[in-house]
Formats: sequence, C-alpha cells, structure tokens
Amino acid sequence: MKAQFGVIGLAVMGQNLALNVESKGHPVAAYNRTADRTKAFAERTQGRKVVPAYTLQEFVATLERPRAILVMVKAGSPVDDVLAELFPLLAPGDLVMDGGNSHYDDTDRRLKLAEERGLLYLGVGISGGEAGALHGPAIMAGGHLEGYARVKGILTKIAAQGPEGPCCGYFGPGSAGHYVKMVHNGIEYAIMQTLAEAYDLMKRGLGMSPHEMADVFGEWNRGELGSYLLEITEGILRTRDPETGAPLVELILDTAQQKGTGKWSTQSALDIGAPAPTIAAAVFARIVSALKDERVHAEKLIPGPEPHLAADRAGFLADLHHAVYLTAVSAYAQGLRQLRDASQERGYGLDLAEVARVWMAGCIIRSKLLVPIRRALTAQPDLPILFLAEPFRSRWRDHHASLRRIVAEAHRHGIPAPAMSSALDFVDAYRTGRLPANLIQAQRDWFGAHTYERVDRPGTFHTEWEAIR
Ligand code: 6PG
Repeated sequence: MKAQFGVIGLAVMGQNLALNVESKGHPVAAYNRTADRTKAFAERTQGRKVVPAYTLQEFVATLERPRAILVMVKAGSPVDDVLAELFPLLAPGDLVMDGGNSHYDDTDRRLKLAEERGLLYLGVGISGGEAGALHGPAIMAGGHLEGYARVKGILTKIAAQGPEGPCCGYFGPGSAGHYVKMVHNGIEYAIMQTLAEAYDLMKRGLGMSPHEMADVFGEWNRGELGSYLLEITEGILRTRDPETGAPLVELILDTAQQKGTGKWSTQSALDIGAPAPTIAAAVFARIVSALKDERVHAEKLIPGPEPHLAADRAGFLADLHHAVYLTAVSAYAQGLRQLRDASQERGYGLDLAEVARVWMAGCIIRSKLLVPIRRALTAQPDLPILFLAEPFRSRWRDHHASLRRIVAEAHRHGIPAPAMSSALDFVDAYRTGRLPANLIQAQRDWFGAHTYERVDRPGTFHTEWEAIR
C-alpha cells in the first residue's frame, strides 16, 4: 500500500495527527527515530491504513509522489536533524511541513534550504493539544502556496470545523503560519494568566472554595466569554485528587513552566515595536512564579497587607467578570495588533479576519469573543486596536470602572494582578492624547543631547539645559 501522507515523529501529537489523517481515508506512512515507538504505533493501528517505516529510506519509498510529509518533532535542533537526513532522500516537488512550534526565523531559514533543493516547504502552526490533533485542531499554514494547495484538501478535512468553516488557513509566505501560531500562544499565555489572577482574587481575596470558583467560571463560560480555557478552568476546579480526595489544583506546585513561544512572541513585539504589554506581563508572571524558593523566603521578610477583601461578594464577582472580559479583549487586541505590524514588517500579507476565523475552533484560545472580533476585522481590516470597534468600545465604556475597581482592590490587598493591571494601563495610555513622554524626551536631551520635537513648530531641537536654567 502506498501512503498519501507521511508523519515523522510519533509522540502523542504526531500519532494523533496521523490517526486523524487516516480516519479521513488517506493511507499514512509513519516513522519515528526510535523503532520501539513505531512498532507500538503499528500494533495499535493494525487493520488501519497505516504504513509503519523503520528507516527514513523505507518511509520515503512508501509515499506516493510528489510526497507530502509532516514533521512532528520537538522544536529546535531536532527539526534540523530530521531535515538534514530527509532532504537528500526527496525529489524536487516533494512537500515538507513542520507542524511543531518552531521559531519563525528557523522556519524562514529551513524554507530557503528546501528551496535550494527544489522542495516545497510549509511552516504549520497546529493548536489544540492532544485531543485537537486527533479530533480537529486549528491549522495555521505559511510558506509555499503551491505546497499548501496540494495538501489543503487533507488539512481542511482534519481541522476543527468551526462556525465559519474549517479552522485551517494559509496565511502567507515564509514563516507566516508559525508567526501566527506564536502570537496565538502569546495570547494563550495572557488569557491563562488572567484566569489565574481571577482565581487568586476569589481564593485568597474572597476565601472561596474550588467548587464555588468552578461555579463562577462555569457561569462565565455560558456567557459572552465562553471559551475553551474557561471550560477547562471550571473542570480543573471540580477535580479531586484520586488519592487524597483534596482539590487537585491545590496540590500542584505553583511554578508555571514554559517552552518559549510566549517569550518569542514578546521578543518579536519588542523587535518590531508593537505594544504587547499584557502578553509580556504574562510571560514575566511565569518567570516570577518559577522563583519559588525566593518567594517563600521573601514572604517572611517583605511585608504587605492581608489579602482578604472585605468586598460584597456578588458585586465583586460582577466586576471581576468585566475585568476578565476587558483583559481578555486586551490580549486579543495586542496580539492582533502585533500580527498587523509584523505582517507589514515581514511581508506576510496577513488577513486578520481570516486569522480570527481559524482561531474560532480547535485551538486553545477558541472563544465566543472571536465572533465579534472577526466581524470587527472584516469591517475594518487594518483596525489599529479592537477597542476602537464595536462591541468592544461600548464594553470598555460601560465596564472600565469595574476593571479599575478590581485592579485597585487587588493592589490595595497585595494580590498581584499583572495581566489585568497591564491591560488597564495599556488602554488608558492608548486613549491618552498627551502622555508624559515629553518629559522623557527632555531628560534624554539634557543628559545625551538626543534632541526632541516640539508641539508648536516643526523641526528637531536641542537645548543647552544647564546654560539656560
Ligand atoms: C496549542 C498549545 C501548544 C502547547 C503550548 C504550551 O496551541 O496547542 O499552545 O502548542 O501546549 O506550546 O506552551 P508552554 O509549554 O510554553 O506553556
């Protein structure tokens, strides 16, 4: 049996994507560097249209030509290692897709190497975790359009089917797909941090039990904030440790790990000068969380207020919902703004309304919010920031007071809320016609003769500050 699609790398994501493709009627070739895993997968898939291969040569030989190969190995040097072995075995016109969370610079570099050999290359962001890979992920492709055209049929079939079509899209040349996926993860970090802050305010601030908090998250999930991350947060808070019977979340060590995509998203925002402070705050919050021993030590030495809020619970929870809403919108707003700027700078030609459509199902940041977000971006493709468009402008007008009360209460009681406070600061700065940056310009000019512009006439100016003082 010849295979129509090949998967290299049989960890959970690779296996599940292979099974997904096979279940749509396409025979799949499967290869893993260590033969044990290939063997186990072959046993697991007996009777199905899976062709196991134990060498790359054998793998390549079982594929129909021109070949379509998805590489699902750990981002970084493992991808380079696979490509170094694979490329020489392929024929011009064959297509290689990298489905991992590769850095966009790596993807641009690898695409050139593929081009030199006459191969087609796609950097494909795949979101949705293990279950998504098996039942329908969101797929963000970029690279050679001709290659995408060849696999569009298969990718569209294995993708999540969203309210506005299959959650699979081609976003542009080069690393466009991986860049979109990276920013998706930046937004993912920011929303996860926002929900963690809401949990902390309810738990330490209001003294609520996991079950009570689950009820709150569940109620929010049924409203306009409905999302995958809210759904799993409710589920997490309802889960008990089978051994001890205690709420499992309370037994988990409070140090958040990260594999790098949120950091890269922030690094790129800094490089291109895109304002993404809420995403950055979420990355730094994970970094602070990792300083567990230092925090435990400092807790005894650095004083602060008691974290107990004296607030009326119902009123506080209503405010908290609005604060989470506005912070989540801020995360999408900053991420989409970054994509807009990156698209210009890097020549991706991104269609942001299409990005929002692809994020509607399958991926980790899928949310009902993406419906009005897509509508706003369809009406105004170059929208600078979501808060300028409806319904977000009205929501801000009606609810910014709630966000202010939540941030103020958190600060008053010593409960950190970096995502929420950065979202508030971001929108407040964005809506301020005259910021105090004039003073910064004056300081730069004083100590470094860096010059400044004036509001009353054109030109570039320098003042001998000491001389005229
Ligand atoms: C997804 C996820 C996925 C992965 C994250 C986790 O969209 O399916 O984003 O790609 O789970 O990369 O990232 P961290 O380990 O950095 O939290």
